[in-house]
Amino acid sequence: MILRDKIIYILEKNRGKYVSGQEMADTFGVSRSAVAKCVSQLKSEGYAIDSVNNSGHRLADDCDILSAPAISSHLNDDCEITVFKTIDSTNTQAKRVLANGSTGNMIFAAEAQTEGRGRRGKSFYSPEGKGLYFSVVLNLDIPLADSTLITAASAVAVANAIREATKKDPKIKWVNDIFIDNKKVCGILTEAVTDFESGRVQSVIIGIGINLTTDVFPDELIGIAGSLGQSINRCRMIAGIYEELKTVCAKLNERRFMEDYRKHSLVLGRQVHFSRNGADYLATAEDITDSGELKVKLQDGEVMLLNSGEISIKL
Ligand code: BTN
Repeated sequence: MILRDKIIYILEKNRGKYVSGQEMADTFGVSRSAVAKCVSQLKSEGYAIDSVNNSGHRLADDCDILSAPAISSHLNDDCEITVFKTIDSTNTQAKRVLANGSTGNMIFAAEAQTEGRGRRGKSFYSPEGKGLYFSVVLNLDIPLADSTLITAASAVAVANAIREATKKDPKIKWVNDIFIDNKKVCGILTEAVTDFESGRVQSVIIGIGINLTTDVFPDELIGIAGSLGQSINRCRMIAGIYEELKTVCAKLNERRFMEDYRKHSLVLGRQVHFSRNGADYLATAEDITDSGELKVKLQDGEVMLLNSGEISIKL
């Protein structure tokens, strides 16, 4: 790491506390004036750093700049992290990097996306400074059939992180949209890189988009999308979600997260609409199986298991 990144790392790790310039100089093996120069450079880039004689430097609570060292300061182990000011889509970028032969766990985050992608070919509105847009790549070796579980596991991990950070009550709309107060505040796009011969998943890309303070939405999202209505420490949130995803995916077979998935479901017990093979149905959502299928009861009493597709709820 270069000195600049080391300083961001240590200030983020000690967020809210003063770290002395001398301590940083000793730790990094540079002069105190080199540290001071780097800190003032960071301030000129927009970092809110409070410097006090005899105390040191402190990153302000509301300083929220995305950076690889700040994300990594909250991680338990090494992971390749890339942060972009603007990118077409962090999921697309992850795919490009994987196609070039890179392996291992990775995180791609961006301040803004110009071609943010949603499920079913939809776009994801990703304006600068208003949200959190990132993709986690996990190297896994799981049967293709289990990849649907990743979707459910991701929804649980993200909902838990949002609950913890905001004290609000996020609900999961099957399959993996997150709602607060009946508005969609977060979408998740999971994509898998598979090996045809073995029929196994090698890597998954979990793309997460959270509306933090977005207040103006494009016409087609008005009345549907909402936002958390508050800023959060985005670097800590990315790292927290990454760690939780890693833990859950390592024990995917135990399916413990399905309990949480059902507990925080927006759909269970409610009337849902869906289309299958050109026909429209109205049904009651009765249960979600341990494999992530939605069990619905049609008006004539017939029970159907849905394993993919869009449903809409009467809100
Ligand atoms: C959906 O709502 O259908 C899923 C939206 C997923 C959006 C995230 S933002 C980060 C990552 N990059 C993308 O292009 N999409 C995902």
